[in-house]
Amino acid sequence: MTDTGPPVAVVTGAAGGIGAAVSRCLARDGHRLALVDRPGPALDALAAELAAAGHTVLAVGSDVREPSTVAAAASEVDGGFGGFDTLVTCAGIGQIDPIEQTGDEVWAETLATNLTGTFWWCREAVPRMRARGGGTIVPVSSTTALVGLPGRTAYAASKAGVLGLARTLAVECAADGIRVVPVCPGATRTDLVQQGYRRAADPAAAERAHAALQPIGRLSEPAEIAETIAFVCSPRAATITGATIVVDGGYTAGGPSWNT
Ligand SMILES: NC(=O)c1ccc[n+]([C@@H]2O[C@H](COP(=O)([O-])OP(=O)(O)OC[C@H]3O[C@@H](n4cnc5c(N)ncnc54)[C@H](O)[C@@H]3O)[C@@H](O)[C@H]2O)c1
Repeated sequence: MTDTGPPVAVVTGAAGGIGAAVSRCLARDGHRLALVDRPGPALDALAAELAAAGHTVLAVGSDVREPSTVAAAASEVDGGFGGFDTLVTCAGIGQIDPIEQTGDEVWAETLATNLTGTFWWCREAVPRMRARGGGTIVPVSSTTALVGLPGRTAYAASKAGVLGLARTLAVECAADGIRVVPVCPGATRTDLVQQGYRRAADPAAAERAHAALQPIGRLSEPAEIAETIAFVCSPRAATITGATIVVDGGYTAGGPSWNT
């Protein structure tokens, strides 16, 4: 039976900073939402908040690192909504270590979460979107995929992998009406970056230094990244596919100059 209800969006990493902001924007824009994250109070609180505001939501407690778990989560979304039209993959972890201190476990964990978890979800999404006549996939990458930053070899490799996956999938699925648009946030004020500050001797000074490195003089807010993703997911972006959308306050546009 054809689903004639509002569009359905799956957001992975929905309980965190950017994922929660994306979920709020997509709910506002009329999507029914499957919120995917590891089970816990943050996921439950977001689901309760959106439901209380009158949105249709399904909380799916699931880990993106396991293919069978991802398949079960996608089936749970089928059970709730009969498939989905939009996938935004926000689930991710950070990593900051010099290469000689980047252990095998850190490498494997970072790749499994950020890259392989994105692959598992895309592989679940494509046949479902084909069956619905099209869809939109937004894999969240990072400016770290575009410019080198010391101490982030595993993270950068995972995010560059996401870009390669996304571009290839965009051309593979364009004729099916499926758009794939990777979004690269720059520094954004979430737990993920704040965890990094907490490792510094003076976290407040680290935060100020990070802001000063951004041409706009501050970090992006999660809601600012989410508005771009919501646009990309909307019919207004109907011919955007395979392009890398960078939302970074000017960070990748240039570097510091000797005379300023
Ligand atoms: N914050 C930034 O500056 C920034 C910049 C560029 C890219 N990103 C990317 O944006 C995405 C969202 O990051 P954020 O800053 O909102 O971080 P965050 O830590 O606030 O949120 C990440 C979410 O992913 C979830 N998650 C982590 N591992 C998971 C797993 N195995 N299974 C299911 N869920 C899992 C976490 O529970 C959390 O809710 C990440 O992919 C991150 O790499 C963030």
